Amino acid sequence: MTRAPLLITVACCLLVVTQAALIRRCDLAKVLHEQDLDGFEGYSLSEWICLAFAESKFNISKVNENVDGSRDYGIFQINSHYWCNDYRSHSENYCHVDCEDLLEPNLLSSISCAKKMVSGARGMRNWLNWRLFCAGRPLSYWMTGCHLN
Ligand SMILES: *[C@@H]1O[C@H](CO)[C@@H](O)[C@H](O)[C@H]1NC(C)=O
Repeated sequence: MTRAPLLITVACCLLVVTQAALIRRCDLAKVLHEQDLDGFEGYSLSEWICLAFAESKFNISKVNENVDGSRDYGIFQINSHYWCNDYRSHSENYCHVDCEDLLEPNLLSSISCAKKMVSGARGMRNWLNWRLFCAGRPLSYWMTGCHLN
């Protein structure tokens, strides 16, 4: 008789975790704003949000396996070959971070690593989907209806 409540509790938590994977566009804008990404290295919030959508469709816990065996992690799909350590394949680990940390709902590790990535000469061109879906396009609509305060 004591097991039923436990199962219900576990089922609830799984549901919460699943739902938490997607962040809403304006909630993301707020977090990025709080972490000073608005204008960081010349990129507007709209550009950051387009990047996040192009890479993960706002799925905070997205992990994608590449043909070379490396993986892309989190909202910005940060790659384990160069930027984070997944303890599976060779990594330069330029961000000095565990790839798993890039899946945390508070986004802080992902944001910190993304700042490092855009600070290089390639800027957002580090991200293929940025080049394909965001670069050189009108992007201000990504912020439509978002109030930052
Ligand atoms: C988010 O990504 C994870 C891992 O790739 C996947 O299992 C999950 O289904 C995705 N969630 C949504 C809502 O797409």
